[in-house]
Amino acid sequence: MSPLRVTRTLPEDATDAALRADVLNGLTATPKTLPPKWFYDARGSELFEEITELPEYYPTRAEREILLARSGEIAAASGARTLVELGSGSSEKTRLLIDALTGLEVYVPVDVSESALTQAGQVLIEERPWLTVHALIADFTGRMELPETPGPRLLAFLGGTIGNLLPAERARFLASIRRLLAPGDTLLLGTDLVKDEEVLVRAYDDAAGVTAEFNKNVLAVVDRELDADFNPDSFDHVALWDADNEWIEMRLRSRVAQTVKVPALDLAVDFAAGEELRTEVSAKFRRAGVTAELAATGLELTNWWTDSQGRFALSLSMAR
Ligand code: SAH
Ligand code: AVI
Repeated sequence: MSPLRVTRTLPEDATDAALRADVLNGLTATPKTLPPKWFYDARGSELFEEITELPEYYPTRAEREILLARSGEIAAASGARTLVELGSGSSEKTRLLIDALTGLEVYVPVDVSESALTQAGQVLIEERPWLTVHALIADFTGRMELPETPGPRLLAFLGGTIGNLLPAERARFLASIRRLLAPGDTLLLGTDLVKDEEVLVRAYDDAAGVTAEFNKNVLAVVDRELDADFNPDSFDHVALWDADNEWIEMRLRSRVAQTVKVPALDLAVDFAAGEELRTEVSAKFRRAGVTAELAATGLELTNWWTDSQGRFALSLSMAR
């Protein structure tokens, strides 16, 4: 069994500086925002895994259904010797791909969550001792340096996480990942699809309140890392469908007028009663839009698969 290699591409003080910059910019903007990558400390990663098991949260089950049916086809089309996965989290569904890729030598999971990466990586090398796992702690919206590994490469971005990027970030991101691919390499992209508003809103506002806890976890992260005094109980979880942008938006609505202090930034932030802080967008897609965005970055869509209820799509595209 080869040992798990974990590389931190960003030093811890760079992560700290990025959090400070995001909190300062986001909490002094109108309307207030925080980027969703800060949900995922160890507790946030655990809460996301709980979300994936909720009856209302269909994307994980729908994507798993597609992978169960199509991993053989994906493996044959890509012929990958290296699988790179962005935002890999628990790598749970990825096992289906790993086991179908008969020529696979190296798996490179990339995530900001160190706890998710090391837990998933450890389990993988114990279960599949033939596989080299080189985990990268990195921000996929930044400049990623991948290790030298054998081609062809399959780059997987599952779960619909691409929908958590704003449109301008998404365009930059697609251009940056195209630079990681050589001609003949493939991209496997999971995208949640536009559907009935009620189904969408329920998926982001579950009856058990797990998504509400996940949403409020970002305040706990800012409290712990920047010594802030957010009281998560003084905010309500909000999930709404923005029909113009075709995305779900998660917000935190202040229950009262309050001032939150962030001593590490020498900042005091006023919230009016009812004022909302946007914490995430989760864009939903259509086939034509995905095909066009991939084509704009030099990726030709070769396959489009959906689950049996047409809720979620996996697409395979090739770098030319
Ligand atoms: N792919 C898994 C996990 C999805 S949850 C699945 O389909 O179930 C989103 C994952 O992306 C989390 O593990 C989170 O830590 C990671 N993530 C979010 N923003 C990120 C960023 N900017 N850079 C790297 N990883 C990020
Ligand atoms: C990771 N990402 C695709 C999830 C989503 O559905 O947008 C994050 C999430 N937010 C609330 N529930 C799940």
